[in-house]
Amino acid sequence: MLVVHPSQLEMPVKPTRTLRDLPMPPLDPRVGRVTGQAMQMRADHHGLIHETLRTCGDYGRLRLFWAEAIVIASPEGAKCVLQTDAANYNKNNMGYREVARVLGDGLFTSDGDQWRDNRVVLQPFFTRKTLAHYGEKMRKHSEDLAGSIPEGPVDLAEETVALTLRILGDCIFDEDFEPYVPLMLEEFGTVLRIVNERVVNHVPLVDTLNVLRERTFQASLGRFNDAVQELVDKALADPDRAASQTSVIHALHANEATRDPKNVRDQVITMMFAGHETSAVALQWIFHTLATQPEWREKVEAEIDAAEGFDELPVLERVIQETLRLYPPVWIVTRRIEDDVVIDGIEVKKGTLILVSIFTIHRNPKYWDDPDRFDPDRFLPERTKDHVKGQYLPFGMGKRACVGSRMAMLELKTIVATLLREVRFDLAPGSAMHIESSLTLRPEGAEMICTRRQRGPS
Ligand code: HEM
Repeated sequence: MLVVHPSQLEMPVKPTRTLRDLPMPPLDPRVGRVTGQAMQMRADHHGLIHETLRTCGDYGRLRLFWAEAIVIASPEGAKCVLQTDAANYNKNNMGYREVARVLGDGLFTSDGDQWRDNRVVLQPFFTRKTLAHYGEKMRKHSEDLAGSIPEGPVDLAEETVALTLRILGDCIFDEDFEPYVPLMLEEFGTVLRIVNERVVNHVPLVDTLNVLRERTFQASLGRFNDAVQELVDKALADPDRAASQTSVIHALHANEATRDPKNVRDQVITMMFAGHETSAVALQWIFHTLATQPEWREKVEAEIDAAEGFDELPVLERVIQETLRLYPPVWIVTRRIEDDVVIDGIEVKKGTLILVSIFTIHRNPKYWDDPDRFDPDRFLPERTKDHVKGQYLPFGMGKRACVGSRMAMLELKTIVATLLREVRFDLAPGSAMHIESSLTLRPEGAEMICTRRQRGPS
């Protein structure tokens, strides 16, 4: 058995409890004996996981039909799984397998050598040096939207998806993604909705029997895959662009370990998905949050109006960090254990499902004062110096941490600053927002209204 060493200690930690000793949230009195907590999960995915912190503490146990899972709500546990002992965990579980039906063996879903070879090729698109070329492109696309968005009710989900896609296409594909926006909204939207349903509402066998849904899924996926293949073929047919290596497609094709056509397709789809969905959701949260925090919105607007460029916007940066703490778009990461392990003194058997709840860690009162309160000043440098490793992880941690985290932070800052110079988003009177959790955590239900701003003194 492999024993994990929490980093502060030199001595190996002996297990003091097993998974079976961990508390469980209450079972549904009617069906819980058979389903475990699967039905509660179906009703309120993130609510159930978050509830384990209140009923069980930092580590809780769930049973989803016959599968045992450990829910981790502590930074130390997250560090064990995602960093210290990451080699002993893989992504081979039901959630990632479902996502892989769409993304194939892309960077997000694969493991082992294939993952490493592709990460080496894709990483250079996200270095500080490369990012320097992205800022201007991000600003231009944001200005286009700021200039064209009409006053009145606005579909923020649609606008942010379209904007982040255009930026993604320009920055890492060197391609105009405008023609793909309707496709992403429609076909990819359908595919993701069905993946979500199958992951969150998983009932063994029932999913397999839902033939109609599967047909819709395959039809939308087919149309989406055709468009991606066309994108790849078109890019590779252009010798000038191949020589300049400004697109991930050419970088993947130029490398022997990654040029296999299926691999290129899988990586392209993964980048198209991972590179826009999370950033779009983060933007929706930022605008919703600012709409309900007028005091902070005024501070951000004043800072943006007074700034020459976008390099120094500390208040906005803290607002973004705090929004990602309260509403992390990737609110949970899951793993499967390859070999028996000890996590923070708990003996856990091979095959157990691991649920690292980023949402819950970000609201664990042991680490965050008054955790549900929106307070961007938690991220003042003098306050973050006391943070422990794993306490704040909107981009994950360890070797599988987000490859696009720096690009995402630059993108969020640039988009929010550019838009807020021109427009303001408010909640429509009487409309209320609730948290919807699926693969990502989304704000749902609130209608947003856009108005043009009278700029303050610059
Ligand atoms: C606010 C925006 C974003 C958030 C919150 C976010 C969050 C995350 C998280 C938590 C993970 C780790 C998942 C795990 O451990 O299982 C991840 C992985 C990943 N992200 Fe992001 N992400 C964002 C934006 C982006 C962008 C802009 C890109 C690319 C352009 C990107 C590409 C990826 C990829 C490819 C992976 C898999 C990395 C690997 O396993 O090597 N993400 N992201």
